[in-house]
Formats: sequence, structure tokens, C-alpha cells
Amino acid sequence: MLSEKIESALNAQLNAETYSAYLYFSMSTYFRSINLDGFASWMFTQAIEELAHAKKFHDFIFQRGGRATLAQIDGPPVEWASPESAFQDTLNHEQKVTGLINSLVDTAIQESDHATHIFLQWFVTEQVEEEETAGGVLQQLKQLGSSQNGLYMMDREMAKRGTGYPAAE
Ligand code: FEO
Repeated sequence: MLSEKIESALNAQLNAETYSAYLYFSMSTYFRSINLDGFASWMFTQAIEELAHAKKFHDFIFQRGGRATLAQIDGPPVEWASPESAFQDTLNHEQKVTGLINSLVDTAIQESDHATHIFLQWFVTEQVEEEETAGGVLQQLKQLGSSQNGLYMMDREMAKRGTGYPAAE
């Protein structure tokens, strides 16, 4: 059984993960608008992953006898000055999410909720990967500087991540 405090904190994180999906979908839209379809595809896959993170919270809340609720999602930014700026925002956002997960872990410990504490370990590890990935792409973009050729080559590489979602038809 979840305490009210933990249920509310888990629902807040469900909302934060859904916002992450919306943010990365918006970045995907931005990349498409500047004809970087590989980056757009990469970001859309990232958005789908975030929705999967949200679903993990959703499922866990129900598993523990709680009630998952979907709250209003803030509107994301819609424009960035450059691909580098979008990935700087991605890294900043992931660092913020790491902070949220760490606070949740602190709350689970304070409430002696061991099941939630264990559930959150997956997210602690995931955040290390998320920050490393965003930081790695940002570094590559910084190294490219203003090389348009380099950017288009990188776009082809980014496309290789593929799509993490089922075909619509
Ligand atoms: Fe759900 Fe990108 O962390």
C-alpha cells in the first residue's frame, strides 16, 4: 500500500516524464523544420522512451494499490537557436530529472517505503545513461562548430537509432 505522500510524489514524476516526452516531441518537430530528419527521428524515439518511463510509474502506482492520475502538461518550447542549443537544453533537462529522481528516492527512504526505493533504482541507473547520451551528442555538435557538411553526416548517423514505436498501419 502506498502512503498518500508517496502516491502523490510518484504521480508528480509520472507527469514530469510525460512532459519530457512532450519536450522531446517538440524538439523532434524543430529538427524536422530545419530538415535534419535523422535528428528528428532520434528525438522522436527519445520521446517514446519518455512515455515508456511515464508508463512504468503508472503501472507501479496501480500495482501498489494506488491511483495513477494524468495531470495537465505544460507546453514545451517550440524553437531553438541551433541543434547545439537543443541538446544543451536536453542535457539541462536530464540533469533536472536526475534531481527529481534523487528527491523521490529521499522521500521513499524517509517514508521507509522499500518497494518504491527498489523500483526507483532502475531510474537512478537510467539517468546516468540519459545524461551521458545527451552530453555525448552535445560534445559532438560542439566539435562540429559551423560545419554544415559535418552536421549532415551526423544527421545520417542519428537516423540509425531507428524508431522505437510500432508502425501506424
Ligand atoms: Fe525519463 Fe530522460 O528521463
